[in-house]
Amino acid sequence: MPNVFGSPHKGTEPRHEQVVFCQDEASGLRAIIAIHSTALGPSLGGTRFYPYASEEEALADVLNLSRGMSYKNALAGLDLGGGKAVIIGDPDTDKNEAMLRAYGRFVQSLHGRYITACDVGTYSPDMDIIARESQYVTGRTVEHGGAGDSSILTAFGVFQGMRAAAEHVWGSPTLRGRRVGVEGVGKVGHRLVEHLLEDGAEVVVCDVSEEAVERVRARHPHVAVAADNDALVREPLDVYAPCALGGSLSDETVGVLGAKIVCGAANNQLAHAGIEKQLADRGVLYAPDYVVNSGGVIQVADEIDGFDFDRAKTRATKIFDTTGKIFALAAEEGVPPAVAADRLAERRMSEIGRLRGILL
Ligand SMILES: NC(=O)c1ccc[n+]([C@@H]2O[C@H](COP(=O)([O-])OP(=O)(O)OC[C@H]3O[C@@H](n4cnc5c(N)ncnc54)[C@H](O)[C@@H]3O)[C@@H](O)[C@H]2O)c1
Repeated sequence: MPNVFGSPHKGTEPRHEQVVFCQDEASGLRAIIAIHSTALGPSLGGTRFYPYASEEEALADVLNLSRGMSYKNALAGLDLGGGKAVIIGDPDTDKNEAMLRAYGRFVQSLHGRYITACDVGTYSPDMDIIARESQYVTGRTVEHGGAGDSSILTAFGVFQGMRAAAEHVWGSPTLRGRRVGVEGVGKVGHRLVEHLLEDGAEVVVCDVSEEAVERVRARHPHVAVAADNDALVREPLDVYAPCALGGSLSDETVGVLGAKIVCGAANNQLAHAGIEKQLADRGVLYAPDYVVNSGGVIQVADEIDGFDFDRAKTRATKIFDTTGKIFALAAEEGVPPAVAADRLAERRMSEIGRLRGILL
């Protein structure tokens, strides 16, 4: 059983504040809500619906994911803390209205200490159902006042992060004339391709789904295609953008990667701790995943005040500045950007969170 009170933490990071186990036997609901930190405000993070092999596995995942949200929300400049929830089960066969509504009542019972959203296995229509029982729900459909598909600003934010990386490496914030390899052209990846082409980059893609590749090629026949990720990282690339699943940056890929920049949407790109140092040692600039992919959370967080796309987009544009700041701090402190990002996030949680000590 993971040690909830002593869950792994790094540096001066706070430990989890609250972990809530929720059960409704009749509908089959078994959920865990983890609130990592409310130093900056209510905790926000999605609900993952996944057939975990055990409760231990579900707990370990939710503790890890909620901690990640504290860092992501802090550097996204949001007045929100980090939280996440998991529902144990197969989303294709176990999901039902009563279960989602029971879950919504548990979310509501926390009175806003946790605000939910979509994640793996949950979709905007699910959020609409949960919202029938709770006011603390984002990621709803547009018809229900929601922000809709968060991949729009996720892709836009990754592009901003990539521009900042280009400026750091080549002195100019553009991908014009650069060759960019995009692994995974799903919801985020195909939108990133559009931004890159518009900016004048040359693009090569790969995806395990032929349909996904064909969708890109139908619009842009001049986009090149690599057989798989192994082939993609060996291509002559200036930038590598992992936009599929986590773990793309392994000992093997880093060993053969020719790109000068890594910047993509996928969560948890580093296969294990220490890869960030290997990248830095090889002269590859790594834009921390949770910083550049925060456009999605920025988009759904905007729903809290009544969704306004332009306002959310303006906020996502700041990913450019934040990414640049991280590279500067990394250079100044002689650490990889991933370490600098964590430090910057912890600094914000501590400096801004401290203000709540001023009694109102
Ligand atoms: N959608 C968002 O708003 C958002 C926000 C933050 C982070 N992310 C992360 O970005 C990544 C992409 O998200 P998405 O919403 O586009 O998901 P998606 O499922 O729409 O797209 C992922 C694509 O990757 C492809 N893929 C899977 N395994 C692959 C492999 N081994 N090699 C090549 N391609 C492979 C899939 O076929 C699919 O087309 C995920 O890691 C996700 O966690 C997404």
